[in-house]
Amino acid sequence: MRRMTVLGAAVTALTLTVGVAMAAGASENKGKFYFKKTCKTCHTKGAAGGEVTPLTKTQEQWTRYFTKGVHKKGAEKLTDVVPAEQLPEIQLFLVNHAADSPQPETCG
Ligand code: HEC
Repeated sequence: MRRMTVLGAAVTALTLTVGVAMAAGASENKGKFYFKKTCKTCHTKGAAGGEVTPLTKTQEQWTRYFTKGVHKKGAEKLTDVVPAEQLPEIQLFLVNHAADSPQPETCG
């Protein structure tokens, strides 16, 4: 009986871990989608803002960029270009695939 309880707890813990990992994956994918949909309209080679990809910055630099929350060298806020609720997901995507991340990604 006791062993069943321990097993039950282990299964619950595992389910929670997997659930959290999946949620993180989902919001990162959303971030990628928003980044492509909004940021990329101005940030491809030759476009108004020049090329920007996750590799443009390191994880720390992206974190600082979103903490500051300003865009175009401080001329406007990031929330002026993209709805505020999308920013954490875009940040997650960029940080997770930054130049010094375990999974650098040029896409986007
Ligand atoms: C309407 C066009 C447009 C959109 C949309 C846009 N940008 Fe920009 N972005 C610019 C321009 C223009 C600059 C300034 C380029 C320069 O001065 O060299 C810029 C600059 C930047 C820079 C360089 C640092 C800075 O802020 O000056 C980064 C990084 C950046 N944008 C990221 C983003 C991200 C992330 C998004 C999406 C949340 C985004 N941009 C959406 C036009 C845009």
